[in-house]
Amino acid sequence: MALKITVIGTGYLGATHAAAMAELGFEVLGLDVVPEKIEMLQRGEVPMYEPGLEELLRKHVAGIEGSSGRLRFTMDFAEVAEFGDIHFVCVNTPQKHGEYACDMSYVDAAFASLAPHLTGPALVVGKSTVPVGSADRLARTLTGLAPAGDEVELAWNPEFLREGFAVQDTLHPDRIVAGIRSERAEKLLREVYATPLSEGTPFVVTDFPTAELVKTAANSFLATKISFINAMAEVCEAGGGDVVKLAEAIGHDDRIGKKFLRAGIGFGGGCLPKDIRAFMARAGELGADQALTFLREIDSINMRRRGQMVEMTREALGGSSFLGKRIAVLGATFKPDSDDVRDSPALNVAGQIHLQGGQVTVYDPKGMDNARRLFPTLGYAETAVDAVRGAHAVLHLTEWREFRELDPAALGEVATDRVVLDGRNALDPSVWRAAGWTYRAMGRPTA
Ligand code: UGA
Repeated sequence: MALKITVIGTGYLGATHAAAMAELGFEVLGLDVVPEKIEMLQRGEVPMYEPGLEELLRKHVAGIEGSSGRLRFTMDFAEVAEFGDIHFVCVNTPQKHGEYACDMSYVDAAFASLAPHLTGPALVVGKSTVPVGSADRLARTLTGLAPAGDEVELAWNPEFLREGFAVQDTLHPDRIVAGIRSERAEKLLREVYATPLSEGTPFVVTDFPTAELVKTAANSFLATKISFINAMAEVCEAGGGDVVKLAEAIGHDDRIGKKFLRAGIGFGGGCLPKDIRAFMARAGELGADQALTFLREIDSINMRRRGQMVEMTREALGGSSFLGKRIAVLGATFKPDSDDVRDSPALNVAGQIHLQGGQVTVYDPKGMDNARRLFPTLGYAETAVDAVRGAHAVLHLTEWREFRELDPAALGEVATDRVVLDGRNALDPSVWRAAGWTYRAMGRPTA
């Protein structure tokens, strides 16, 4: 009989995982504790913008015309326990308020709510990003609280999906990491992932701590790559180099690679910043803090970029204050193809300029509602052209395709001054200059 799967927590990770599991042919029951989320999902609507996710959901949510009916949602843990052979825990692990450490309260609550209902054999699979050592502790919680005792087992299976590519990354992952303690757990996970495994996706079997560490190590490496190129951008600024050419040239060495070497205002979002901080905090608890002190530098290079963008803008406006200056900000989300504004470098820069007296008008293709909620005092425009109308400077802060396709000549007609600052090194300087714009980017003082 086909496995029945439940997914606990239907945020980014969980909603995508649930839809993907239904796509792979399983019967799926998703659970969340937020009623509004469940109501939306039951209607086949996604609470965030993620390309392809709504289509996938509508293809499988029960009650939607023409759907497979394999995907349902509930708020009831007893129903989840009764239904599933395998329970994926996909709740979020944000940064603790006022601390670097990871807030485990949602994970702990999910385990505490599920376990007492587990009266028969089950595999619980953790997907959330957690500090090393958590799985070991949670395994004990499970067997302690579950009436089925040792028949309930834990596995740790970290998730590497990127926002904007969540569906693709979930259906066709570049690797599957399985932290397991028994052959049975491995067999079940191989059954769940039979389709991607048949496509050749590598399956890496590890113990619990390694599985937990793979995730934080991967995100730390990515953060390090970005801060490395941003540090090179700082040196290029000082020494007159061009960081884009530099990245291209070092990227030809395939030990280094071209990816994740785009210099600019740096990384943000709900993962990289909090994950490197939680990793440092955990290393400290384990007495291994020295091993990760470099991440402190990665973090500070990254945070410095935002201030440098503000200063570059001030300079472009004549070097004194922002008072009386109108600044158009193109982009609010932390990256394109997402509506996520969590720790967004773009909004941080917009906010700083606003606080220093600049008249900031923001436009983003998908992130407007979230941006307005977070920064209600900024100005917002309905289109890029409206944001640029009357501006003394245009800041390109999130590299949406829409912005690369703008017509600089038409924008020049409505701007007060033709000054564009590219915080993502993604616009074509020659096209903007040909239309009479002064183009300035980060890490390319003379480009
Ligand atoms: C990141 C990881 O890439 C995923 O593998 C991981 O699963 C996920 O976190 C997670 O932990 O859940 P994501 O946060 O969606 O995914 O975003 P990324 O694509 O990694 O981008 C992060 C930030 O780095 C963005 O603000 C982006 O603009 C910035 N970035 C990226 C650069 O500044 N330069 C680059 O070259 C690449």
